[in-house]
This record gives sequence, structure tokens and C-alpha cells, in this order.
Amino acid sequence: MTGLKMIGIGRALPGRCVTNDDLSKIVETSDAWISERTGIRRRYYCGEGESTNTLIVSAARQAVANAGLTPEDIDCVIVATVSSDYASPSVACLLQAELGIRENIPVMDINAACAGFLYGTATASGMLQVYGGRYALVVGGEQLSRLMDMNDRSTCVLFGDAAGAAVYERDETADLCVDLGSRGNLEIEIQGCARPEPSVIKMNGNAVFRFAVGVIPSSLNRVMAKAGLTMDQIDWVVCHQANARIIDHCAKKLGAPEKFYKNIDRYGNTSAASIPLALYDMWQEGLLQHEEKVLAVGFGGGLTWAGALLNLSLGAVK
Ligand code: ACO
Repeated sequence: MTGLKMIGIGRALPGRCVTNDDLSKIVETSDAWISERTGIRRRYYCGEGESTNTLIVSAARQAVANAGLTPEDIDCVIVATVSSDYASPSVACLLQAELGIRENIPVMDINAACAGFLYGTATASGMLQVYGGRYALVVGGEQLSRLMDMNDRSTCVLFGDAAGAAVYERDETADLCVDLGSRGNLEIEIQGCARPEPSVIKMNGNAVFRFAVGVIPSSLNRVMAKAGLTMDQIDWVVCHQANARIIDHCAKKLGAPEKFYKNIDRYGNTSAASIPLALYDMWQEGLLQHEEKVLAVGFGGGLTWAGALLNLSLGAVK
């Protein structure tokens, strides 16, 4: 697949911060249970005037500016989300209109749940290869707070709202190494408008946990094999931030636990936003200032998974 270099990153968080103690006033839970079982301490929910769309626009605008580009430079727009404001137009089309991105380019949403950002990256590579162009804007964004059953303590404590965006430049010097897959089943389900009840996330947490700790190492090993690299040649590993225990388990299995980044304590599980959100925080913390090789892996509803080797060239924090 056509190689990509990440040259800009952005993120957006909504205004309302919700702590574990806040949730313990709504459902029978505690800060101790949530932080020990998941690593989550707080998350953000959209308030009035905020939605998947507003978060995605804000993160995308920032990523384009941080890449030193303008929206007219963008040749392809892919948005990954399971919580779009409308079935149609897509969030990507709304983003195009809001930023003033050109008309004669591919612009679309994809739904691969928490694997969506990396599925979107692979899709962007394919689009640039088939359709031409130099720069792709790939965004993951969610307003999961509107899909939660606030009576179900086993799911409502896990999720948060956010968006993360990346600008990629086509790079003919290296292939994009990805590992995409899916195991069609209903272990995670967002029951939608085909049913009489409002849409809510339902999840078999234990089954998803087992799926995750199996698929993360195997997917990352396949990506490294495709790239001809070993763990000692990788700078960082960024897993979808669903549960700190899942990440710790995989870090132990793969070795080099110091390379596994975590920021789930601050945001909870933000599905398609979680990988670019982690990359943004790493960049802000000065961990990504040079040319880095980052192994990334997402997994989630579908059940889908995606592993990828990301080549980063973000430069100094502006
Ligand atoms: N507060 C207090 N107690 C709770 C809570 C809560 N919030 N939630 C569940 N419990 C209770 C259960 O009722 C159960 O009680 P019991 O023993 O009396 O029956 C006990 O805690 C243990 O429950 P488990 O489900 O076994 O807890 P576990 O340690 O497995 O943690 C969790 C549950 C956090 C959901 C975990 O299974 C997990 O993280 N799974 C993976 C989820 C995931 O990765 N999702 C990613 C994809 S999401 C997407 O794509 C949209």
C-alpha cells in the first residue's frame, strides 16, 4: 500500500469533565472499582452545542494547521465514527463544508468502531493510490455519551467523547504496513434506530477483553513481520485505550513495556478517537518530535481490529 507519513495532528475535547466520583452518584459504582479494573479516572461528555461533528471539525482544523497546510491542500477526507450526527450527510461531508475543502476529492465516513482510525488510514492510503493526490485528512471522533445506558454500570463508566485528527503526506519511499480484520459477531452492539428503544451500547465485557488480549499481540506481530522490523526497532506502541489492564497484559506478552503509551486515565474509551488522541498527547509531551516509528492497534465493535506501522514526522510542538 502507498506509504504515508503523519505530518500533523490535532484533537478536540468537549467541555464537561466527568469524574468517577460523579458517576458513582448516578450508578452503583466507585472510583476504586473503575480505576482498579480499567485505569480510567475521568472522561469528557459533550454539552450543549457540542457533538461528534463539532469535535471532528475542531480536531481536523488543528491537524491541518499543525501540518502547515490549508484545507485547500487536502486531497482525501476519511472520518471514522460510530456516532455520527446524521445517517446522511456523513460527518466527513459536513467537515468538508465547514473547512472549505475542495469538491473533486474522495470524502466519506467509515464504521469500524475502535479500529476505525487505522481502517481510515488504510482507506486513505488506497484512495491516494487509486485517485491520486498528496495529502489525506483522517479523523476519528465520537459522542459516545449519547449512546450510553446510564443504568448499565458495566458499560457507562467506560466511555467518553473526543476527536483526534491526523494529516498524512504520501510517501513513496515506504509501504504502509497494516493488518486489518473482522470477526463478525455481536459481542459489542449499538442497538440502533431499527429498534423501538433509543440507541445504546451493549457489550459482553469479558468476551471483548479475551478478544483484545489475543488479537493485539497477533496483529502487531503480523505488522512487524510485514515491515521486516522487530520490537527493538519500534519507538512506541499505541494500543486503543479501552482498559489499562488490556494494555499492560499485551505489553508484558510483547516485551518492552516501557514503549506502551497510556492516557486512558484522562479520557476513558473514546473509540475511533483514542489512537490519534494518544498520539496528540505524546506529541504535546515531547515524545514525538523527530522521525518516529509507532506501532498502533485498534479493536472493537464488529468485532474489528487493525494494526499498523505509522511513520511520524510531526516536528516540534508549535
Ligand atoms: N462498578 C462496580 N462494580 C461493577 C461495575 C462498576 N462500574 N461494573 C461491573 N461491576 C461488577 C459486576 O457486576 C461483577 O459483579 P459480580 O461479581 O457480583 O457479578 C463484578 O463487578 C465483576 O464484573 P466483570 O465484568 O467480571 O469485571 P471485569 O474485571 O471483567 O471488568 C470490564 C469489566 C471493565 C468491562 C472489562 O471486561 C473490559 O474492559 N472489557 C473490555 C471492554 C473493551 O475493551 N471494549 C472495547 C471495545 S468498545 C467499542 O468498540 C465501542
